[in-house]
Amino acid sequence: MASSNCIMVTLIIILLWSSSSVLSDTIPEKFYQCICKNSDFSDSFSTAFYTPNDASFNTILNSTAQNLRCLMPSVPKPELIFTPLTEPHVQASVICAKQLNLQLRVRSGGHDYEGISYISEMGSPFVIVDLLKLRGIEVNIEENSAWAQAGATVGEVYYRISEKSKTLGFPAGLCTSLGIGGHITGGAYGSMMRKFGLGVDNVIDAHIVNANGTILDRQSMGEDLFWAIRGGGGASFGIILSWKMKLVTVPSIVTVFTVPKTLEDGATKILYKWQQVADKIDDGLFMRVVINVVDKKDVKGERTVQTAYNSLFLGNAETLLRIMNESFPELGLTQKDVTEMSWIESILYIAGYANNTPPEVLLQGKSLFKNYFKAKSDFIKEPIPETGLEGLWKRLLEEDSPLMIWNPYGGMMANISESDTPFPHRKGVIFKIQYLTLWNQPDQELATKHVDWIRKLYNYMTSYASMYPREAYVNYRDLDLGMNKNVNRNSSFAQASVWGNKYFKNNFNRLVQIKTIVDPENFFKHEQSIPVKG
Ligand SMILES: Cc1cc2nc3c(=O)[nH]c(=O)nc-3n(C[C@H](O)[C@H](O)[C@H](O)COP(=O)(O)OP(=O)(O)OC[C@H]3O[C@@H](n4cnc5c(N)ncnc54)[C@H](O)[C@@H]3O)c2cc1C
Ligand SMILES: *[C@@H]1O[C@H](CO)[C@@H](O)[C@H](O)[C@H]1NC(C)=O
Ligand SMILES: *[C@@H]1O[C@H](CO)[C@@H](O)[C@H](O)[C@H]1NC(C)=O
Ligand SMILES: *[C@@H]1O[C@H](CO)[C@@H](O)[C@H](O)[C@H]1NC(C)=O
Ligand SMILES: *[C@@H]1O[C@H](CO)[C@@H](O)[C@H](O)[C@H]1NC(C)=O
Ligand SMILES: *[C@@H]1O[C@H](CO)[C@@H](O)[C@H](O)[C@H]1NC(C)=O
Repeated sequence: MASSNCIMVTLIIILLWSSSSVLSDTIPEKFYQCICKNSDFSDSFSTAFYTPNDASFNTILNSTAQNLRCLMPSVPKPELIFTPLTEPHVQASVICAKQLNLQLRVRSGGHDYEGISYISEMGSPFVIVDLLKLRGIEVNIEENSAWAQAGATVGEVYYRISEKSKTLGFPAGLCTSLGIGGHITGGAYGSMMRKFGLGVDNVIDAHIVNANGTILDRQSMGEDLFWAIRGGGGASFGIILSWKMKLVTVPSIVTVFTVPKTLEDGATKILYKWQQVADKIDDGLFMRVVINVVDKKDVKGERTVQTAYNSLFLGNAETLLRIMNESFPELGLTQKDVTEMSWIESILYIAGYANNTPPEVLLQGKSLFKNYFKAKSDFIKEPIPETGLEGLWKRLLEEDSPLMIWNPYGGMMANISESDTPFPHRKGVIFKIQYLTLWNQPDQELATKHVDWIRKLYNYMTSYASMYPREAYVNYRDLDLGMNKNVNRNSSFAQASVWGNKYFKNNFNRLVQIKTIVDPENFFKHEQSIPVKG
């Protein structure tokens, strides 16, 4: 019944469009027909398919794309965007992409740093399967758990939890527009990681579509594949339909603060001290440092470096002030710097929403800002000496709009072994650095200039970063990795081992083994997908 409906619609479309004879044999039309044949899809083309000829194509393509660099006209565009309305449509999209020999890109929240959820530089035609319409969330308070479909944002997940309980939460990302689907595939850290670990450490089940188009859960996929999808990076093993999360207990009152210190305030010495305490202090305290360049308050036309201590404490203000006075008096935290609030309010605070924004804003699933950007990451295991910091400031002051975020580890992060999940950056890490450079024009020369700057900065940091391997966070995907001239560029496996060891350390080998078993034809393939053993 449903499928005959669909064929009728197809016929009408062919009739309508055959006069201009554009669509009947095109990739979009074939894909549409295949989806109709392999699922219960019975709506018209325009309800879920978008081609570059459609007026709404760019609106959909742009909608969740977070890095404007990846939308520039020179960047390859898909033949088609498909927005499945049901889970069987996702299964059909795998079957059809395979049948039509199309590359498939899957997108949940669109925050990939290199845009690989919506662009492909691999040369062959590609389609985007965008899960934005699959965003259901079910919270089960009796069981302290929640199921969320891949297209939901983390902000929506947090909201739905807080709607049912003021003392339950989930430890994942700080930016509320992240898609839960892609986010958890790489680790998912946030302001409760020192207390509870990462998102992947708190996931207890998943539904996934494999390379054969079959839906598997934890039991039917087995513990190897369930291990691999919790940190092995997006789109290498299948399409996540939904994650089941174990909720964690949060206090009804938490405390936040943001304390800025510029170089004139003695930022260098304070940050040096932060490196001695941030990973050892009470594990309910997450004190990240956001570093950028600002205008000097009193000297017109001069700039300085600002380090802002942006923090969440899982407890009340009095306890926080006592801990800070004991362990980090150099920051000079006082009563007037700190604010008590509920956990969900702290989510909005840390994400950067204006004070008193109602939490319902999270249901819009929108991001607060978009930029053109390039980013990189490092893990730091020895404090960076003051001279090292000064060299860093010099370089930041030479760039238009640099940004760094220093993220403390320790606590629960050090209690989980490196091989528990594919995410290996655990014991011994003091903090992670994220480097960014931002700009706001679709200009290729400008892009080249800023990308060059960040590559030089990364070189400068070599001697302060982790070594053998120089580790990197897979969710801060960086296509520069593995591209250096010492690697045999003729061997994609040799290249993959370079970024593989940085992202996953010894877990890379196990990821390759699992990939070889579950996707031997390498259907789920992208610029940095886990390779099949050759
Ligand atoms: C502004 C910003 C803030 C961030 N903040 C944090 C943070 O606080 N903590 C943190 O850990 N990370 C953070 N990240 C990084 C973020 O975790 C990754 O970019 C993550 O991959 C985003 O997931 P997504 O679904 O939004 O992105 P997408 O671009 O949709 O997907 C990312 C990758 O996963 C694949 N993928 C997407 N959906 C699926 C699926 N359903 N099944 C299988 N593969 C899939 C994509 O193909 C792509 O390879 C941030 C990124 C940005 C841009
Ligand atoms: C989509 O983004 C591109 C690049 O930023 C821009 O040129 C275009 O106007 C946008 N289109 C829509 C409909 O948002
Ligand atoms: C900080 O600790 C010192 C002792 O180490 C104590 O004298 C002082 O009163 C404390 N200050 C605050 C604000 O708690
Ligand atoms: C980590 O392990 C140590 C030592 O067993 C323990 O004292 C600490 O409470 C643990 N931290 C967390 C967050 O579980
Ligand atoms: C790569 O292949 C090309 C041609 O096939 C060859 O000339 C070159 O030496 C090879 N490079 C390496 C590093 O093996
Ligand atoms: C996929 O299907 C093929 C052929 O039916 C089968 O041999 C293979 O085991 C299946 N793979 C998975 C991962 O289910």
